[in-house]
Formats: sequence, C-alpha cells, structure tokens
Amino acid sequence: MKQLNVGVIGTGWCGGIRALACARSALVDQLHLAETDPDRLAELVEATSPTTATADWHEIIANPAIDAVMVSTTPEHLHHPMARAALRAGKHVLLEKPIALTLDEADELIRLADDGGLKFTIGYSQRFNAKQAMVKRSINEGVLGRVTSILVSRHITRSLGAKISQRTKLSPAAMEATHDLDFAFWCLEPRRPVRVYSQNAWGVREATLGVPDTQYVLVTMDDGVVVTIGAGMSLPPGYPNQSTTWIEVLGTEGAVIADASHRDIVVNTVARGVQFPLSTMPGEFVDHVYAGPMERETTHFLEAVAHDRPVMVDPQLARVTMEVYLAADLSAETNEVVSLPLTRDQAGLALAEPYANRG
Ligand SMILES: NC(=O)c1ccc[n+]([C@@H]2O[C@H](COP(=O)([O-])OP(=O)(O)OC[C@H]3O[C@@H](n4cnc5c(N)ncnc54)[C@H](O)[C@@H]3O)[C@@H](O)[C@H]2O)c1
Repeated sequence: MKQLNVGVIGTGWCGGIRALACARSALVDQLHLAETDPDRLAELVEATSPTTATADWHEIIANPAIDAVMVSTTPEHLHHPMARAALRAGKHVLLEKPIALTLDEADELIRLADDGGLKFTIGYSQRFNAKQAMVKRSINEGVLGRVTSILVSRHITRSLGAKISQRTKLSPAAMEATHDLDFAFWCLEPRRPVRVYSQNAWGVREATLGVPDTQYVLVTMDDGVVVTIGAGMSLPPGYPNQSTTWIEVLGTEGAVIADASHRDIVVNTVARGVQFPLSTMPGEFVDHVYAGPMERETTHFLEAVAHDRPVMVDPQLARVTMEVYLAADLSAETNEVVSLPLTRDQAGLALAEPYANRG
C-alpha cells in the first residue's frame, strides 16, 4: 500500500485534529509537525509520536521526504505564504479556509498547484458533515424538483467568535458564512453567483472587538435561485457551547430541512451545569470514534493523494466563494447590491480595512 509522509503546520485546534487523524491513519508513514507554541507542540508530540517536531515550519517545506502538507495556522495571513512555499516545493496541500486574503493570492496558489500537478484543496469541513451530505444528495437525486432557494443560519458562541475576531478583522462572511456559501454553491453547481447583497448587525462585539455580531448575505444565482446565509458570532455562554446551524432547501417538488442545533446530548453536572457536547464545527475525537466532519475530511485528502483521486473541494470553487464574501463585505460597507465578477477596483475596496465607515 502506498503510504505518505505528511507535515502539519500549526497544530492548534484544527491542526491538532489533522495531526491526530494522520497519526491514526494507515495511509500515513511519517508524520512531521511544526508549531510555534512549545506547550502545544509537546502535547501533540505526546499524542502522535511524530517523526520530527519543530518550531520552524520551513523545515517541513525543506524536507524532501514529505509528500503532503496541511496548513492549519493562525493568523490567517500565514495561509498564503505557507501554502505557496509548500506547493513550490512540490508538495500536495490541504489549506484551512480562507484560501488567501486576496483573489490574486488565491489565483497564484491555484496556478502553482495546476502547474505542478499537485492536489490542492481547502478545508471546507462542513461538506463532510453527514446532515449536509444528506441535503446535497436530496438535491442531486431531484426529489426536491427544481431548487428555488437555500437558507443556512449558523451561529457560534461569543467566546469562539472572540477567539477568531481577536486575531483577524476578516468578517463573519469570510470566516463563517464561507462554509455555507461553499456548501450552497457546491450543491447548486454548475450555477454561478451573479449578485450579492449583505448587511451587518452590530451589537455586543462592536465595543469590544470593533466587528459586527452577525452578517447576513443574500446571493442570487445565474438562474435566479436565492441563497441566504446568516453568520453570527455572539451567542451567549450556555447553549450551544460551540455552534448551532439550521438549513432549509426549498424546491418546486419538496423541501429538506436540517437541524444541526446540537441539542441531542445533554450533560448536566453540579460542577459545570448544563453542557451540550459535540457541538463544534470540526467535530472531536470521543476515545476510539470521531464525531463530526474533520477526521473524514483529512482522510479524504490523504486518499486523494495516495490514490491520485480528485479532491472534493476544488480550489476554483473556493475562489468563487472568496469573491462572493468579498462582494458581501463591499455590499455591507456601501449598502449597495454588488454584481459579479468584481472589478479589480471593487476587489481592492473589499480588501481595504473593513468597517472603515463604521461610526
Ligand atoms: N473547518 C473548520 O471547521 C474550521 C474550524 C475552526 C477553524 N478553522 C480554520 O482553521 C485555521 C486554524 O484555526 P484554529 O482554530 O485551529 O486556530 P488555532 O489558533 O487554535 O491554531 C493555530 C496554531 O498555529 C500555530 N502557529 C502560528 N504561527 C505559526 C508558525 N509560524 N508556525 C507554526 N505554527 C504556527 C499557533 O501557535 C496555533 O497553535 C483557521 O485559519 C480557521 O479559519 C476551520
């Protein structure tokens, strides 16, 4: 069996899951870790017994024995230079979203992967969520008739929202709705988005972080299908602990409604009160099993590399998604509907310091 040598750069929350998934996979021979936080690196060394562990990610790039690299670092401006270096070194790459900070950077990564004949994919983990796979299958099978609209409402807790917004000013559209835009566009292929309107809802996070609580994004596809995504980051502590999602797909012959609100397991203790475990978006290991999408997503990437199969998340579609969330940020800033494709000027405006007009 073909086995791979894999490097994981950034072994925080997601990178830790990726590293553990690799360590447990029969497809992986050597595992190499790069992590700048010594305590976190020590934890992962203990958990995965890697071949090498370093604070310097360049060692992963320079190691000719490594076939594939997973880039899971924060802050997000590290994604592009690390993925670019790995692709230039001839390594297959799984890159956490966002693909890059600018469309030009995204184009460069896609070009490098194409030129090198390398697998390159983006961590849109929710595609590997069983409920979302079920929604996609209902659409593909045609049981809904002609799809007319998709709505996804996703909220995370304010503590997780603060973790994200403290390290980057990327919007809720770029950091959260991105999963659901990707999912909707994937379900609706080959349709393409043509118009975007977005509004920010300002609340508790304005004074503390200078960012909105929730962003609503309305996208019109080229055949008129309407996609509506709500992405919130301000739920109070208590319920749901991590994230809650509601999905509706309506068609001419039916509807599919998915409740991913994570109310199905309640742990109630005197010490900690009511807890709702298994409500993270990437999922988590529960001893010998994995609950959630990220382990399967990681294994899918390993399989694609080992057996030369296509990756499920085509980076070209990730680029489409990126253009839409940039358009959403521009729309929220200007209160105008934004038509696609973005002009170069518009793309530049969308990338300028977000929320500049606020206040
Ligand atoms: N698909 C999902 O469900 C999902 C969920 C959460 C986050 N994400 C994405 O995954 C990425 C990682 O998020 P996270 O929550 O795991 O972040 P995190 O902050 O928990 O982990 C990032 C790690 O990168 C390390 N790091 C920083 N600079 C480094 C460097 N130069 N070299 C090596 N390591 C370095 C940090 O020490 C940290 O441990 C984010 O960009 C985010 O957008 C995806």
